[in-house]
Amino acid sequence: MQERATAALAAGKTISFVPTMGFLHQGHASLLREGRARGDLLVLSIFVNPTQFGVGEDFESYPRDLQRDSETARDNGVDIIFAPTAGEMYPSGYQTYVNVEKVTLPLCGASRPGHFRGVTTVVAKLFNIVKPTYAFFGQKDFQQLVVISRMVRDLNMDVTVVGLPTVREDDGLAMSSRNAYLSPEERLGARCLSRALAAVSELYHAGEVVVERLRAELLRILDSEPLARIDYAEFRDGDSLEEVGLADDRTVVALAVRIGTTRLIDNIMIAGGVTWKEKC
Ligand code: PAF
Repeated sequence: MQERATAALAAGKTISFVPTMGFLHQGHASLLREGRARGDLLVLSIFVNPTQFGVGEDFESYPRDLQRDSETARDNGVDIIFAPTAGEMYPSGYQTYVNVEKVTLPLCGASRPGHFRGVTTVVAKLFNIVKPTYAFFGQKDFQQLVVISRMVRDLNMDVTVVGLPTVREDDGLAMSSRNAYLSPEERLGARCLSRALAAVSELYHAGEVVVERLRAELLRILDSEPLARIDYAEFRDGDSLEEVGLADDRTVVALAVRIGTTRLIDNIMIAGGVTWKEKC
């Protein structure tokens, strides 16, 4: 992979890179399409990264289907699929990790200790291997996008991070490989996340800016779903991820909710616009 990347860059080509853990869906396809449009060489990585899963999380059961992913890759013009093994990425003796500080502490960082250390480590390694000009991430993993953008700026990595809007099912559920875990009943219950977010955005547009009142509306809708157990439901500044008391157009509303045993995340910028443009 490194040799091919070096050769492409030496030939004056640009490299678009879409890092994934596989089990691709339409959200990934939208990243691939944008990558295809921007770069000369389109690289997709598929690697279920053990270091970003905590003890008791779903590393073993995370859905995998390399055959189907290869077809999606082909349909979206991918030039190279990079699918290393865990032994290749973390050979024996491995002991180097990348740790971004403040922005990894709240939200998923608080619920999943060590998660972002695993994400930034593997993404830094993948960037060194694939040497991308552009790297594409979905806004659904909003905090991940903030954390990776921070790492790229702080470590002077020569890559442009591009965040793209969340792709949703027709009923609003954010696309995620983990949706495959949901039973039909849970799948219906899972609609409460996007409904709650949409209601809060509507209230904001009607003039409400006091976060405690906006939060009450968010919780009212989530609490009315019997299968939902809230992990977090927060209003944060979209850049610093600091808590806000009054919402404005930079405010992100971020949710993590368990539906049955499946932990789903979703978010919106409260102003409802597509806000993740290029950050680096
Ligand atoms: O978003 C994901 O699928 C993963 O966190 C990533 C960025 C591929 C790192 O393993």
